[in-house]
Amino acid sequence: MNVLVTAGPTREAIDPVRYLTNRSSGKMGYEIAAAFAREGHAVLLVSGPTALDLPEGVDFLPVESAAEMHDAVSRQIGRMRIAVFAAAVADYRPLRVADGKIKKSKQPLTLELEPTPDILGSARTEFGFRGTLVGFAAETSDLEAQARDKLVRKGCDLVVANDVSQPGIGFDSDVNEVLLVRPDRIEPLPRASKHELARTLVRIMLEIHHEKTNVANPSCTSD
Ligand code: C5P
Repeated sequence: MNVLVTAGPTREAIDPVRYLTNRSSGKMGYEIAAAFAREGHAVLLVSGPTALDLPEGVDFLPVESAAEMHDAVSRQIGRMRIAVFAAAVADYRPLRVADGKIKKSKQPLTLELEPTPDILGSARTEFGFRGTLVGFAAETSDLEAQARDKLVRKGCDLVVANDVSQPGIGFDSDVNEVLLVRPDRIEPLPRASKHELARTLVRIMLEIHHEKTNVANPSCTSD
C-alpha cells in the first residue's frame, strides 16, 4: 500500500545564507517511514533537511521550505492510502527574502513574517485526500484539547500528540511519550524509544486504515 510520510523541519530563507528553522530532528518521521517499509509498504518520505540516514527501502523526496513541502505533497498525495504528517513545518516565513546577504548594522532589524501554507490542513480540502490522515501535535499546554481541535479542524483520523514542555522527550530526543487522539477515543502510550513507538504507531495506523476502508466499503477486505 502507498504511504506518504512528511518529516523533519523546514528552512525558511531570510537571505541567501540565513534561514528560520526549528529543533525537529526528523527522527520520529524517519522511524515511522522505516517501520512501514519493514511491513512491506511502498513509502515516500518527503523530508526537510535532517542529519539522518535514509531508511532502507524508502523513496525519498528532499525539500527545504514549507512551500516546497506543500508542492511535493500536493503532487504525490493523490496515489496514497495513508498520509502521515510528522514534519515540523515552520508556521511563518519571512515575507521578503533579501536578494543579497543582509549587512550588519547598529540598528535593530525587524523581520516581517507571513504564515506558511498549512499542508496537513490542505489535505482534505485543497488536495481532496480521502485516505487515512494522521497529524502530529507538539504542544506546551492543554495537550488533549489542542490535539482534539486539530483532529476536527484538519479532518484527521488520528492525531499523535506530545507535550514538548516535558524535558527529555519529543523534539531532538530518542524517546517520546504520546497521547493518541481519535474521533472516538483517547489513548496514552507509555514512554518508549522512537523506534519502538514507530512500530506501535504503524500497527495502530494500519488498524485505523483497515477499519475505515471496511466501513466505507463492507465488501472490500483487502487493504
Ligand atoms: O497546527 P500545527 O502546526 O500544530 O499542526 C501540526 C501538524 O500539522 C503536524 O502534523 C504537522 O506536520 C502539520 N503541519 C503541516 N503544515 C504546516 C504546519 C503543520 O503539515 N504548515
